[in-house]
Amino acid sequence: MIRSYFLKFVAIFALFVLSVSATDTFIAAVYEHAVILPNKTETPVSKEEALLLMNKNMDVLEKAVKLAARQGANIIVTPEDGIYGWIFTRETVYPYLEDIPHPEVNWIPCKDPQRFGYAPVQERLSCLAKDNSIYLVANIGDKKPCNASDPQCPPDGRYQYNTNVAFDSEGRLVARYHKYNLYAPETQFDFPKDLELVTLDTPFGKFGIFTCFDIFSHDPAVVLVEKLQVDSVLFPTAWGNLLPLLSAVPFHSSWARAMRVNLLAANVHNTTMHMTGSGIYTPEGVNVYHYDMETESGQLMLSELKSRPRDEPTYPAPVDWGAYAKSIRPFSSEQPDFPGMFYFDEFTFTELKRSAGNYTVCQKDLCCHLTYKMSEKRADESYALGAFDGLHTVDGRYYLQVCTLVKCRTTDLRTCGEAIGSAFTKFEDFSLSGTFGTSYVFPQLTLSGSQLGPERYYEISRDGRLKSRSGTPLPILAMALYGRVFEKDAPRMGQGPAKLE
Ligand SMILES: *[C@@H]1O[C@H](CO)[C@@H](O)[C@H](O)[C@H]1NC(C)=O
Ligand SMILES: *[C@@H]1O[C@H](CO)[C@@H](O)[C@H](O)[C@H]1NC(C)=O
Ligand SMILES: *[C@@H]1O[C@H](CO)[C@@H](O)[C@H](O)[C@H]1NC(C)=O
Ligand SMILES: *[C@@H]1O[C@H](CO)[C@@H](O)[C@H](O)[C@H]1NC(C)=O
Repeated sequence: MIRSYFLKFVAIFALFVLSVSATDTFIAAVYEHAVILPNKTETPVSKEEALLLMNKNMDVLEKAVKLAARQGANIIVTPEDGIYGWIFTRETVYPYLEDIPHPEVNWIPCKDPQRFGYAPVQERLSCLAKDNSIYLVANIGDKKPCNASDPQCPPDGRYQYNTNVAFDSEGRLVARYHKYNLYAPETQFDFPKDLELVTLDTPFGKFGIFTCFDIFSHDPAVVLVEKLQVDSVLFPTAWGNLLPLLSAVPFHSSWARAMRVNLLAANVHNTTMHMTGSGIYTPEGVNVYHYDMETESGQLMLSELKSRPRDEPTYPAPVDWGAYAKSIRPFSSEQPDFPGMFYFDEFTFTELKRSAGNYTVCQKDLCCHLTYKMSEKRADESYALGAFDGLHTVDGRYYLQVCTLVKCRTTDLRTCGEAIGSAFTKFEDFSLSGTFGTSYVFPQLTLSGSQLGPERYYEISRDGRLKSRSGTPLPILAMALYGRVFEKDAPRMGQGPAKLE
């Protein structure tokens, strides 16, 4: 009896695997969520009050999940902090946390909600996934008790983790990932001691998962892609845009392009915090994105993606960053360089004085070359070519090599690197390259109005140039080759001596 049941199960399972293993494409959904925030409080609210607020957010997420499922989505990603927001201390976030078990326990919270104690949020998310037959990714808080037997146990006797969870289409908890690279202001959470490389095998490819600030990291971001060879990355984020170089859509899409993976990026929507910009990105480019500083509404996006982009004939070849720039002689500079700040990093800039030209600007080991032609050199706008080669140390510590062309905020050159919104100068031709000492360079182009530069207007050559393609005049706000030099990174925040600074 047991045996025949078992065989039947195996047969059905095999059929299932055969039929679904042919899934060359899948439909991905991301939801930009205007999270309903709790009132600011000094004293923790009750568990019931916390759940009330989380249920309000899950009511909204539920509508998005249902809509996505009806349109055939196989998987949906929702944002970091999407269920309770971010206005917390260590104490006030506590009532929002649940003990999240390791997925190896094989748990479907929707069917067995009490198995690991009080877990109403996991139960509801699991039921949402199961009832809509969709994979669901969400970000919630995990708590793990500890005591004096662990010398690193915080004084309040628990660890609190910023955590992504994924449920499969049967509602089973299939991934739990504790954010490894916390953003410095996230003092409500602990840094996990050990790196977790969390992957998820599905009928539509292998997924990796990480959170927001992790995208700057080698561990886990690069390791998941290069060592574990994931096809797609699930990326809940709460990303405050920082123009001109760190706006969500240009930066996240450039990461997907340079790392040559699909990236499903779901951002929070809160215009006061400059949080907007979600999308579905591929190695070839941007499938769909949403950027909205006008309204306070959420937005669902869906797109069909290749399940295994590496197996496709169109899979892009790797770029040899620095190859072109190292092969030419630096262009001469006609005027003195000047300093300018972007996000606490001091760049070396040189002004574009003419309507066309060849310029080089250098800082430490990095030289950036630009060849360009404007339709017209306007008197009311200034542009500068900039280089930065150094360790970024604010809100996180990471080593950068960046080449950038930016429109300065005003014609006062001291404003080069500051946030800007619009540009009227049109570039007909451009080629930006740099003598990078890293193979991790993220190329981006942003046009007037913070619009993403469409891929048909530019190309990335194999020798590392970001070049215009069409001759169509483009109102460029910023262009960058944003390089990360992992081997020069300082220790991760929260680890070793870095914590004492
Ligand atoms: C916040 O406080 C206001 C006024 O007391 C109340 O109306 C509102 O419902 C509260 N919001 C939440 C999310 O608790
Ligand atoms: C301390 O924590 C460990 C592991 O979490 C547990 O096994 C042990 O029983 C705890 N000891 C006390 C005294 O609570
Ligand atoms: C956005 O976030 C800010 C700061 O956290 C908060 O004060 C504001 O109420 C939020 N906006 C909305 C529409 O929720
Ligand atoms: C820039 O340099 C290239 C050769 O490297 C040259 O052909 C071109 O005329 C130069 N452009 C300008 C505007 O000086």
